[in-house]
Amino acid sequence: MTEIPEHLLNRSKARRAAASGESTGDATPAVAAAATPAAAAPAKAAPQPKAIIPDPPYVAAAKKRGRIPFWAMAGLALLPLWGFMYMMAMEPAVKVVEGPTTAGAAVFSGCAGCHGADGAGGAGQVLYQGNVLKTFPHIEDMLNFVYNGSQRFVAAGLAVYGDPNREGGPHKPLGYNGNPMPMQGEKAGGGLTEAQILAAVCHIRYDLSGADPKSEQWGTEYTAWCSPDSEIYKALEAGSTSFDTIAKDFAASPAKPIAIGTAPRPGTTK
Ligand code: HEC
Repeated sequence: MTEIPEHLLNRSKARRAAASGESTGDATPAVAAAATPAAAAPAKAAPQPKAIIPDPPYVAAAKKRGRIPFWAMAGLALLPLWGFMYMMAMEPAVKVVEGPTTAGAAVFSGCAGCHGADGAGGAGQVLYQGNVLKTFPHIEDMLNFVYNGSQRFVAAGLAVYGDPNREGGPHKPLGYNGNPMPMQGEKAGGGLTEAQILAAVCHIRYDLSGADPKSEQWGTEYTAWCSPDSEIYKALEAGSTSFDTIAKDFAASPAKPIAIGTAPRPGTTK
């Protein structure tokens, strides 16, 4: 807070009075005040030093200091950008964790209407409790059947799909309730990519049907086809392999893939 010193107020009053040509009778005190600032000043000087008493150092420091340093403002303004970059940096880590089974759960939402969200069956075959593992001891046969669907098996003259020696009897196309399993693969007239079909099949085998990724029986298959770092899944996603070439492209894999193909073919036994 700054107060205007009294003598300055008086002087301005006097000047204003002089300028407006006030009566000479009144002029005397105004002129006196204006003409003798030095005389008035000593008398009024007494309160003045009080106003100039220096602030204690901590108050002076506080007054000198700006509210927010200018460089901090720049930092604050860039915070949202930093947050965005942080999120972008985190993204790859999230992607690494997401493997075919995670992607497959999303694809399977298109199958769940017939097969049930948990694979318990309905309009479509029962998939859970090891059922598909009995029908398809080899994942390649399951990929081929889902790619083509029942009607293409019938059209190809195949009486059975999956393992012909299936425990509990082999599955016949249109043998469940007379309804067909619709074709899913692109060349068969369906709408899923080969990577999406593998993802859905991984979800069915490992999340719904009970194959244990750590078991001796399924460990090799899981690592090669369905684990988050499955080379086959990555290659299908990238388009560098296909159901038609996988057996050749991954001949060196410990899983030794058998040919899947995009046309209906007889299934294999254990
Ligand atoms: C319109 C209903 C319907 C939809 C949608 C459907 N299915 Fe099917 N699915 C069936 C029927 C019906 C069968 C039995 C086929 C038969 O008897 O020929 C079947 C059979 C299967 C089988 C064979 C199981 C066995 O052990 O015999 C698998 C695997 C399968 N479906 C996976 C899928 C996947 C994966 C999807 C989604 C991408 C899907 N289905 C979408 C109706 C459906």
